Order: sequence, then structure tokens, then C-alpha cells
Amino acid sequence: MQVLAEDVRLDPVWRRAEPYMRARKNDVHIPLSFQWCRRLLAKHPEADAEICLLAILLHDIGWFAIDMDEIVAQGFRSENFLTSDVRYRHEAEGVRLAREVLADCGYGDNVIGAVCEIIDGHDTRPEPHHLNDRIVRDADKLWRYEVAGIAVAVDWFGITPSAYADQIEGELARFETEAGRAMAEAELAITRDRLMLHVI
Ligand SMILES: [Fe+2]
Ligand SMILES: [Fe+2]
Repeated sequence: MQVLAEDVRLDPVWRRAEPYMRARKNDVHIPLSFQWCRRLLAKHPEADAEICLLAILLHDIGWFAIDMDEIVAQGFRSENFLTSDVRYRHEAEGVRLAREVLADCGYGDNVIGAVCEIIDGHDTRPEPHHLNDRIVRDADKLWRYEVAGIAVAVDWFGITPSAYADQIEGELARFETEAGRAMAEAELAITRDRLMLHVI
């Protein structure tokens, strides 16, 4: 039976993953991206809602295993930050921790395999594997177009909200789905207005 995204709350999984949620502001990023994932799933009923939502919930818990100073230095402010060592490590650690979380929550090998396949390489794999993977990628990006996402990212990247808004506007073409791109564009217009980015 088709699982509807709005019916899936996954509270036991959130509870079990909670110890990993303070790292790198996961406790802001992941709830916001989880909501974006639901909105994308509403536009893509052919995707597997449970797999996508589990994957977005757990995709970044691997940051827990990595030192925050190292994350900022290598993960954001180095020239090739998207392919830096910490990026690969947070994916590998994410797979390891996600397996434990999902097994403890009673999920079987099929679900664990499908979720971990998305987590492994979610930032570094050049091409997504399939629709579930593409939806998780877009949900992962969309939160940065919100006021809250920009507020967090400016400190990570050490730039102004205006410069960051311009940067992510230039990245709209990288969205995997039309729905994701349209949502990002609409959200950025709201964010620019709320943060007075036409002036400051
Ligand atoms: Fe990530
Ligand atoms: Fe992420």
C-alpha cells in the first residue's frame, strides 16, 4: 500500500537519533529538510515516502563523529569543500550510525539497505541513482533558502546573507526536480524580502 508522506512522522526514529542531532545544527537542518521532503513527496507520489523520509532524517547524523572545527575548516571554507575528506567521512559515519538506529527501531534489511544507499554518497556522488535519491538531495538543499537556513549558513561560510542569497540563487540549476527548483525559487523571494536583502 502506498505510504502517504503526511502520515509518516517517525517519532521513534527521531528519538533514537536524538543524540546525533546537535552536531552541526542537525537539529535545525534536519527537521526543516524533513518538512521539505514531505512537500516534495506530495508532488511525487510515485517515490517511496518512507525510504525518502528515513533517509533525510538520518542523512547527516554522521557529522556527530567529526570535530566541528574540522567541519568548518575543511567542510565549508576550503576550495574543494564539496569533496573534502570530512564530507566522505560524514557519509560513511552516517551509514554506520543509521544502520544501528534503524535496526534498533525494528527495520529490516531491505529498508536499511535502501536508506543507507541514499546516505552513502548523498553529498559526493556525482549523479543520483533514482527518484528517491533525487528527492532527498533536493530536500537537503531546500532549507538553505529559508531565513533559518541562511542564518545558519552565513556563519558556516563566513559571508553576508546577501552574498549567500546570491550564491544559492546561482545554484538553482543544480536542483534535481522541477518541484524542488520552483520551491527554492519561491522561498528565496520570501527570504530576500524578510531579510531586506534589496538594501543590505
Ligand atoms: Fe551531508
Ligand atoms: Fe544535509
